[in-house]
Amino acid sequence: MDVTPETTDGGGPRAASISLDGIGKRYPDGTEAVRELSLDIAAGELVVLIGPSGCGKSTVLRMVNRLIEPTAGRILLGGEDVTRVDPVRLRRRIGYVIQNVGLFPHQTVSANVATVPQLLGWPRERSRKRVEELLELVGLDPAQFGRRYPHELSGGQRQRVGVARALAADPVVLLMDEPFSAVDPIVRTRLQEEFLRLQAEVRKTIVLVTHDLDEAVRLGDRIAVLSQGGNLEQYDTPATVLGAPATPFVREFVGADRGIRRLVVTPLTRETIEPLPGAGVDGLPAVPLGGSAYDALGVLLSSATDRVVVTEADRPVGVLSRTRLLDLGRAPD
Ligand SMILES: Nc1ncnc2c1ncn2[C@@H]1O[C@H](COP(=O)(O)OP(=O)(O)OP(=O)(O)O)[C@@H](O)[C@H]1O
Ligand SMILES: [Mg+2]
Repeated sequence: MDVTPETTDGGGPRAASISLDGIGKRYPDGTEAVRELSLDIAAGELVVLIGPSGCGKSTVLRMVNRLIEPTAGRILLGGEDVTRVDPVRLRRRIGYVIQNVGLFPHQTVSANVATVPQLLGWPRERSRKRVEELLELVGLDPAQFGRRYPHELSGGQRQRVGVARALAADPVVLLMDEPFSAVDPIVRTRLQEEFLRLQAEVRKTIVLVTHDLDEAVRLGDRIAVLSQGGNLEQYDTPATVLGAPATPFVREFVGADRGIRRLVVTPLTRETIEPLPGAGVDGLPAVPLGGSAYDALGVLLSSATDRVVVTEADRPVGVLSRTRLLDLGRAPD
């Protein structure tokens, strides 16, 4: 695959590609956590690592910032081999968000976010401005939250502070290990949506680990499905992983309700819908073109009809029948 090594905003690299080239980790006790994994991630891409417990996801992530030293292979960042550069310098270019956030409990939210800029010796004023900008970016009013301590925040707010802190020194890569798993499902969905908006703005290269297939499907540009030993079973878009599992392992992993999940990632386009019939669409429930097939299913199920009308700028442009929806959810062979 052709990988753009870096994207820039004129003032230096904003995001860098990552290439894992046959990386492996064998622990001193002989455990082969990761046997040999190769993965190319383009600059600005959000890749999700998913797989069963113990398959090596966290090990892979921590090898990228060398919290764990690989015992085989190479890691390239923006095309540069970083397998042997000073890990401390490397980590300044990489933001890291861990499951339980790991905020410093005795420091205010502002001080937490300012950690890396301070380590880098930024002038106070620059650091202060950056903290404000980031808190706003993650949806926390700096005047209200900056002086609080982590225990004075909700789980979701702490999570956002963790993301702000990881972004503080404008890293070219963001690593996230189960960042949303500590919060309840409703907060999680909201955080995921906010996070997608944030990513549209900052366009970092992100590697995110999760157990949650829905999260992977919602967030990932591409999903890497791993089995034991960091074995890469499939690396593709959510729609392809759900619709065309590459191996029996992936088929099993994405499970029986993958039809529904596939609908979530299938947009309603002129190609997916059916032509507008001459008459009889008056009174049918409507869904907008560009929405998902899943939205259409929801409308269909709650309205006891067998068709919905698809609209663009409030004008009908086609229909979608129950049968057509079932076809869209069915995996191609
Ligand atoms: N220090 C260590 N020494 C020996 N084995 C280890 C060590 N750290 C991790 N392992 C093993 O490496 C394997 C991969 O662990 P890893 O933490 O990467 O899994 P994971 O996919 O992140 O799992 P989970 O989903 O449960 O977080 C596991 O079998 C684990 O027991
Ligand atoms: Mg883990």
